[in-house]
Parts: sequence; structure tokens; C-alpha cells
Amino acid sequence: MTCNRRTVLKAGVAAAIVAAFGSVGPAFAAKPLVIGFSQVGAESEWRTANTVSIKDAAKKEGITLKFADAQQRQENQVKAIRSFIAQRVDIIAFSPVVESGWDTVLREAKAAKIPVILTDRAVNVTDPSLYVTFIGSDFVEEGRLAARWLLERAKKTPDATFNIVELQGTVGSAPAIDRQKGFAEVIAANPKLKVIRSQTGDFTRTKGKEVMEAFLKAEGKKINVLYAHNDDMAIGAIQAIEEAGMKPGKDILVVSIDGVRGAFQAMVAGKMNVTVECNPLFGPQLMQIARDVAANKPVPKRITVQEGVFPAEVAAKEFPNRKY
Ligand code: AHR
Repeated sequence: MTCNRRTVLKAGVAAAIVAAFGSVGPAFAAKPLVIGFSQVGAESEWRTANTVSIKDAAKKEGITLKFADAQQRQENQVKAIRSFIAQRVDIIAFSPVVESGWDTVLREAKAAKIPVILTDRAVNVTDPSLYVTFIGSDFVEEGRLAARWLLERAKKTPDATFNIVELQGTVGSAPAIDRQKGFAEVIAANPKLKVIRSQTGDFTRTKGKEVMEAFLKAEGKKINVLYAHNDDMAIGAIQAIEEAGMKPGKDILVVSIDGVRGAFQAMVAGKMNVTVECNPLFGPQLMQIARDVAANKPVPKRITVQEGVFPAEVAAKEFPNRKY
């Protein structure tokens, strides 16, 4: 080990402060880790819970979080990432609103030697070394789980046809692409299950309601099932179904994803049939991974979170345990 005069002096001063005050004091404390985080927006109950989880975990860990809300626009996320690069943050983390179009800005982060962690949504890049790791859900599996519930339900009435309308998430986003794929893959096993209309509701209640109104206008009583890529759109659509004089959960089965408290309330009220959990509470895990990355420790390329399926039958019992 090399030890110059300045190091010896610094160590001597620190030792004197410890002797006098019992600690090295703030001037010698390790610099807090700085994370620049670009969030998708505030489009859903899920997103709000995710933001709270990340902010709370950073605070608890003494990590400085520079938080930017992209209002569901990719260009805002690109701007935020460039600003984090200019500010020389230690780590950049972001939940990409859509899958493609990230190569250039991620190359800029790599050139600046700032590691990037993806949260919640994946990116489609030619060079996987442009990000260190991904932490979030398996959206394809969530789509499959929603469809498996419906396949089981269809077994109760083997002669019935199930005309499904699908409310997709944001066009080009990983959850919209994957949840559609997983669902389609599983329902293909039963020709009585057919998606008759599919359109984006952008993951919001307002658009979920609007698009469901249009579905009802076009197809009316032909619709037996609503498959929504998130609970907020399902809740908006439930309102549209009621306004059309039909009973959500009965005349039209409502199958959804996220597991937010609003969905449990809808299930307890008999208006939703099932929600597949998508866990937003990975703030503490993100902070740990960020520390590991900053310390150059090896981390897995993909970290997925634990999730369950909640049918209406268990909603009342589970509701008090829900954390988001
Ligand atoms: O990316 C996760 C999805 O985004 C959640 O299912 C949805 O509610 C959110 O807006």
C-alpha cells in the first residue's frame, strides 16, 4: 500500500476529531449516492404507489434522488437523462415510457460512464451493455395469468362464446406489448374465446372509459368480457358499462392487471372479477441494486418481483393487507 504525506496528515486530523467528538464528522462522511430517476408520469394508482415506494426508499437509505416526471412523453425522459448526465449523477434509473428509441441517449450515458438501471419497463436496444440491469415484472406472464383465469371460467359454460374487448396500455410500451402477447398466446387454446376489439386507453381511467364507450357503441350486448391492461382503465370502463345500463362483473366479465386498492374495492362491490398483481413496491430493492452497481458488485441482468392472482372471491379478505 502506498501512503504519502498528505494521507498521513488527513488520517491524523481524522483521528484527532474522533478522539474529540467520537466520530469523523460530516466533513469526512462518505458522499451520499446520487440517483437521477426519470418516472413515466402519474397516469395510474400503480404509478403513484411506485413513485412513493422509490422516494421513500431513497430517503430511508440516505440516497439523494433527483426525480423527474416525464408526463408519459419519451422526449421528456430523454431530456431528463441528458440533464442527469450533465449533472454527473452516480446512477441513472428510469422507467421507459416506450420500448424503442433509446440507443442514442443510452450511448451518451455509457460514454459518460454513468451506469443505467431500468425499472418497471424494458427497452429494445441493439446493445444490451447500454444498461446494467432491469428490475420489474414479467408482463408476458401477467397476460398469461389473466387469460388462464378466463380459460378456467370458460370451462363452466363450455357452449358459450366469449367475445372479448381489450383495453391496451400505452402504444409501444413494454406492458402493452407483453400483456397482449401473453393473453393472446393462452386464449388461442380455446376457439370460443375471441378478441373482437382492441384499442389503447393509455393506462388512464379517463381514456379507459372513453374507449369502452366506443366499444359498447359498436358492439353493444355482444361483449362478454373486458380485458384491461391495467386496473385504472378497467375502473374507467366499469363506469362506461354501468352508464350503458349493463352490470360489470356479471353481464361483462372484467379481467384486469395491477392489483391496486381501487380494483379490490371494485371486486368487493361485485364489479370486477379478477386482477393479476403487478408489484410496484420495489423502491427498497432498487436502492440496494443501485448501491451494488455503484460499488462495482456484479448484479443479475434481470430481477423480477413476486406477484399473485386475486379473484373476486378473495378480495374482501385480502383488501386489508393491500399496501397500494
Ligand atoms: O408499467 C406498469 C404499468 O404502468 C402498470 O400496469 C400501469 O398501471 C402503469 O401505468
